[in-house]
Amino acid sequence: MAKAAVTGRNLSLVLCLFLLLSCLGSSLWANTHSLRCDIIVKVRTTAGQPWCEGQCSLDGVPFLKYNNSKFTPLGNRGNAVNGTQVWTDITQRLDYLGQELRKMLANSIQEMTKTSGQPTLQATMLSQYEHGQSVGASWRFNISGKYSFLFNTMNMNWKLIDPEAGGIMNQWKDDTQFIKDLRTISTADCRHWLKELLKHPKEKPRSTSRVQDITQLPSAINTTQLQHEKVFIDMASVIAIILPLVVGILVKKC
Ligand SMILES: *[C@@H]1O[C@H](CO)[C@@H](O)[C@H](O)[C@H]1NC(C)=O
Ligand SMILES: *[C@@H]1O[C@H](CO)[C@@H](O)[C@H](O)[C@H]1NC(C)=O
Ligand SMILES: *[C@@H]1O[C@H](CO)[C@@H](O)[C@H](O)[C@H]1NC(C)=O
Ligand SMILES: *[C@@H]1O[C@H](CO)[C@@H](O)[C@H](O)[C@H]1NC(C)=O
Repeated sequence: MAKAAVTGRNLSLVLCLFLLLSCLGSSLWANTHSLRCDIIVKVRTTAGQPWCEGQCSLDGVPFLKYNNSKFTPLGNRGNAVNGTQVWTDITQRLDYLGQELRKMLANSIQEMTKTSGQPTLQATMLSQYEHGQSVGASWRFNISGKYSFLFNTMNMNWKLIDPEAGGIMNQWKDDTQFIKDLRTISTADCRHWLKELLKHPKEKPRSTSRVQDITQLPSAINTTQLQHEKVFIDMASVIAIILPLVVGILVKKC
């Protein structure tokens, strides 16, 4: 009888631990984020056409788009950060980057034997995070859909996708300032932007009032705080369930 009770207790302990660990695991697992910017650059354009266009998104939700130096906020998060310090940081950086990409593209034209006319550069930056730690940062370049290569800024590795892009890639690799900029933007800058962007809500606050600024609403969701609270609740439940069991076992042993 007593033995059966102890076994039963051990079993429930194991079950509780299992449930708690999976609960903790899923809450931590959800704490992944990605910041992505897609940029299209042309060297020369016909009148009225932008030479640079782009869009940035956080976890797949666009918050900013632009052409040349005209930046437009998108969605609730975009509107919430419009005009703030992080908005200024991001737009200034993208503005600078667009001009640098355009120079790189212009300097690579003689390496392009497969295209005629105006080349178009598509650049995609992806920066990924788990629990606030950087787990991936890269740039993908594609010129006129024919010359593609990748630059992994985590390990500074370049990877050729189209063999014909070798000449262009080698030329870009030699530009130390450009490489440094790509690395800084996709790592340090992105980490900072992500931290600031997450302070602003993705969803509309419940209030339907149009006169109030959403950043002033008390119901505006503070993601950082919510995440802290969730971890705290998880920890508290672990302690609340394990403590009586441990005490029970100790008492029984004594
Ligand atoms: C560039 O963006 C501005 C602001 O969103 C917009 O008014 C303008 O029409 C856009 N121009 C082009 C050529 O897309
Ligand atoms: C973004 O903010 C600027 C001023 O900081 C304002 O002129 C503009 O209308 C805002 N854009 C949107 C879409 O709210
Ligand atoms: C490059 O762009 C072309 C056309 O947009 C597309 O078909 C191709 O898959 C792209 N290549 C890479 C590696 O992204
Ligand atoms: C959200 O909460 C955290 C922790 O309580 C705080 O550091 C941060 O400043 C808050 N952010 C906003 C936008 O209120």
